[in-house]
Amino acid sequence: ETFKDAFKDKFYIGVAINRRQAMQKNEKEATLIKQQFNSISPENDLKWENIHPAPGIYNFNPADKYVKTGMESDMFIIGHTLVWHSQTPDWVFTDEHENLLTREQLLERMKSHIDAVVTRYKGKIKGWDVINEALNEDGSLRDSKWRNIIGDDYIEKAFEFAHAADPEAELYYNDYNLYKAEKRSGAIKIVNSLKDKGIPIKAVGEQGHYNLDRASLKDIEATIQDFIKAGVIVNFTELDISVLPEANADATADVANSETYKEELNPYTDGLPAEVENRLAQRYGSIFQLFVKYEKHIDRVTFWGLSDADSWLNNWPVRGRTNYPLPFNRDYTVKKEVTKAILDAA
Ligand code: XIL
Repeated sequence: ETFKDAFKDKFYIGVAINRRQAMQKNEKEATLIKQQFNSISPENDLKWENIHPAPGIYNFNPADKYVKTGMESDMFIIGHTLVWHSQTPDWVFTDEHENLLTREQLLERMKSHIDAVVTRYKGKIKGWDVINEALNEDGSLRDSKWRNIIGDDYIEKAFEFAHAADPEAELYYNDYNLYKAEKRSGAIKIVNSLKDKGIPIKAVGEQGHYNLDRASLKDIEATIQDFIKAGVIVNFTELDISVLPEANADATADVANSETYKEELNPYTDGLPAEVENRLAQRYGSIFQLFVKYEKHIDRVTFWGLSDADSWLNNWPVRGRTNYPLPFNRDYTVKKEVTKAILDAA
């Protein structure tokens, strides 16, 4: 039994794919993606720095391949992401003399980017992460160049532009740590304010970058319930469960060669101990049981990466670790206990 079949009456099961996978360079990977998943997200290729690297220069080729791969297997294809503070080149915010753009100029630039990208894949990309990660942990709006130059309404403008470019596409607000009530309150404000203005938002995406402890089931359940109350679907858009100790992102530069790194931060270089795999299986199982309980309000659960080898969590927040956050091992075989726990939840 495959993931997509097991959950087919409940929600899409998606996977974020990298450029190699979008190009179908590796047969094993391509087969696994087709067999197991009915939705795909682009890990990096639709981010501004990749698809629009320089003024007037669009690099559509990888994104075209990504969309083609999804179309071939009739997948629900996701666009990630239109407006974000990260992986966005500096030139976006300045003119040819390197002066910061005015509000009107930046709005124009945002609009033409959204027009170009959304229109190209109109009717093919079915849902867009219009805005990614606009919130601080306390629920206030993050000080990004988008917000500082345009103002708080950059969010609704982006949704308006995306809606105008493809009125049929589902539009999403996407962020991490929405399982924390404070931050979630900010997302609910965004939802309410869009709805008040009649701007369609279909779902909020809780990224779901979890680990073995953080994000209790109670908090995840409260997250689902709060978004139901706010009148939106809640998708889990970047699910992965780190088995490694939490490392301080600020300390990363120093730690890579230290003893601390080898002994404490990267303990499973020789394989995942059965005991840890069991904990991972239980954690995945109980999270999927919760998703199933609320299946009417969840349209999609997407894993952020195909196999452990592909996961960004090998390199974040510390580079070069050996993490095991996904249901597929480095050699594309299934992690038996984990997969069983997930399938049993269906
Ligand atoms: C990550 C990719 O997986 C990495 O390959 C890249 O180097 C950095 O971005 N939140 C998001 C994703 O919305 O776009 C991020 O993806 C992970 C965190």
